Amino acid sequence: MDAIEITGGRPLSGEVQVSGSKNATLPQIAAALLAPGRSTFRGVPDLADIRTLGKLLGHMGARVERDGATVYVDADRVANPEAPYEMVKTMRASVLVLGPLVARFGRARVSLPGGCAIGARPIDQHLKGLQLLGAKIDLAHGYVEAQAARLRGATILFDLPTVTGTENLMMAAALAEGRTVLENCAREPEVAALADALNAMGARIQGAGSSVVTIDGVNSLRPMDIQVIPDRIEAGTLLAAAMITGGDVVVRGARPEDLDGALAKMREAGARISAERGGLRIVAPERPDAVDFITAPFPGFPTDLQAQLMACLTVARGASRVVETVFENRFMHVQELVRMGADIAVDGHTAVVRGVARLSGAPVMATDLRASASLVLAGLRAEGKTKVHRVYHLDRGYESLEKKLAALGANVRRVKGALA
Ligand code: EPU
Repeated sequence: MDAIEITGGRPLSGEVQVSGSKNATLPQIAAALLAPGRSTFRGVPDLADIRTLGKLLGHMGARVERDGATVYVDADRVANPEAPYEMVKTMRASVLVLGPLVARFGRARVSLPGGCAIGARPIDQHLKGLQLLGAKIDLAHGYVEAQAARLRGATILFDLPTVTGTENLMMAAALAEGRTVLENCAREPEVAALADALNAMGARIQGAGSSVVTIDGVNSLRPMDIQVIPDRIEAGTLLAAAMITGGDVVVRGARPEDLDGALAKMREAGARISAERGGLRIVAPERPDAVDFITAPFPGFPTDLQAQLMACLTVARGASRVVETVFENRFMHVQELVRMGADIAVDGHTAVVRGVARLSGAPVMATDLRASASLVLAGLRAEGKTKVHRVYHLDRGYESLEKKLAALGANVRRVKGALA
């Protein structure tokens, strides 16, 4: 297993390019299952999660090829509409094949994802929605078995906004008979990007990116050729890396409209952020000011940046209050940050972070993707050496993070095959 070794203390400076969005690419690649023929995806990040989904589609009989940042998916010969446990357990987003498979093939067998490091993460809303579209759902032997001769449009009110749930149902409804209205939808930019991709395939979807999405079903769809949007969470992570080191960085490809909630808090913490050179420039103070924040569905502060901003606040002037409302177990980075000298107390969904003047490097490890990123950030600020273990979490969602940080002046390198 690889590790990332960082010697902290250097303010970052320079320009860095954001890669394509992981969470936009995953549903778009799943959507390729909706049409026979070859879809083309441009600007696809080379990440473990994308490779896992490619393998899953390959297992079903699709042909998946990569040429640089372009991925081709030919879904002509899908013969086996099944997502086995071995693949779903390594990546929950595999559940995104459920909607497209039932819609195009009339049946699907997809392993239930089970719990994960950050929370229980049930898929009841996905299943309720498919049932309302007329699918027969059975749960047997750890699998969801869904069947429908043809899905029929319906009005579906989500109990809570769910990103992949909204995406799954948009894909299913695209080929249903008649009109589907989805209410209380997730409004994340990745949902809107998926609707754009589906509309490019010939779907008729309106309102994605707002809380009500209307889908007029069509009889068939064609392959798409699309450009993946920039990764707003990677952009936010790079801004946070500049923030924690008191740096001056231009994050190219960062779109302010995707990052409102996070930018507001970084500004409140004393960073100057402006649109520059096709991205965002951040000029950060030597130590941030304390800020309180609470995670919420888009356009609120994203749970996927909670750990990274918390890392910044460990060296703030004053005490900050962080409330996590989206996932029930997303403070796994706290104890590792404490090992680096942070002063953080957790009570339920709330963490109180009392800023300290300095962090000190230590060997640390994380149990999920964004938590790992927060430890890398803390390492950039800490005195001495930090070794972040279990980098495979980081590799699921960040493309060459250590190379991007090194290009901004960080003293960071990957150690191959380090002991965990
Ligand atoms: N939920 C339910 N029932 C459902 C679906 C969701 O109770 O049927 C709950 C979840 O347990 C959670 C809340 O609703 O408490 C929101 O979860 P959501 O379904 O929106 O999350 P997701 O679709 O599984 C996506 C991202 C996550 C990101 C969340 C929240 C993808 C592939 N994943 O997950 O990304 O944290 O939305 O924004 O888009 C990551 O990239 O590190 C990551 C975890």
